[in-house]
Amino acid sequence: MATTKAPEDAYTAEPFVPGKAGALAELREAAAGCRGCPLHRAATQTVFGAGAQDARVMLVGEQPGDQEDRQGRPFVGPAGKLLDRALAEVGIDPGEAYVTNAVKHFKFTQAEPRKRRIHKQPTLRETTACGPWLAAELALVEPELIVVLGATAGKALLGSSFRVTQARGTVLEREIHGRPERLVPTVHPSSVLRADDREAAYRGLISDLRVAADALE
Ligand code: URA
Ligand code: SF4
Repeated sequence: MATTKAPEDAYTAEPFVPGKAGALAELREAAAGCRGCPLHRAATQTVFGAGAQDARVMLVGEQPGDQEDRQGRPFVGPAGKLLDRALAEVGIDPGEAYVTNAVKHFKFTQAEPRKRRIHKQPTLRETTACGPWLAAELALVEPELIVVLGATAGKALLGSSFRVTQARGTVLEREIHGRPERLVPTVHPSSVLRADDREAAYRGLISDLRVAADALE
């Protein structure tokens, strides 16, 4: 007997993305109801991108963390604070950037209720499922430059063979649907917070972000 795939097996945000969204608000509203993969079940809410539609630079992270999940905004926790400081240091106004994540729901493990929720890396399948939201954001914002923060964002934007260590601090250029795209990959700001030598890791992030700042001039 032929079986049809249940929606929960589909693993794609595609059916939830409005076909011809003219504004980010429209996308954000639709994304609030996304059930394109199982991650929406345990998370508090969809954390959509934030920033102006005419932003020149788009920053793409991995997924919301604990704070982001509670507040509904990307990069408001410790990694976001570090990122804002680093951006300001290279002369990119964080308030003028569009900030988003490859995956829009927080994935975590929790030993028991009321215990701390521990971030869990999204799978390639989940990242791919969420990809239509990122594509829709890119199509509307059309940033001059995309800063790719870490491996998950890199795989989402540049394919599964992406390696941060190889690509970081370089300007990658390509054409997507006839639209030129420039990307500068770097490490994820959370990796700086976890590094044994935080100062060295931070300097590395700054040096990559300088490449991005120069490319914007
Ligand atoms: N880490 C991310 O990748 N994104 C956030 O929004 C917060 C932390
Ligand atoms: Fe939809 Fe992405 Fe959330 Fe999965 S993670 S439910 S695809 S918004």
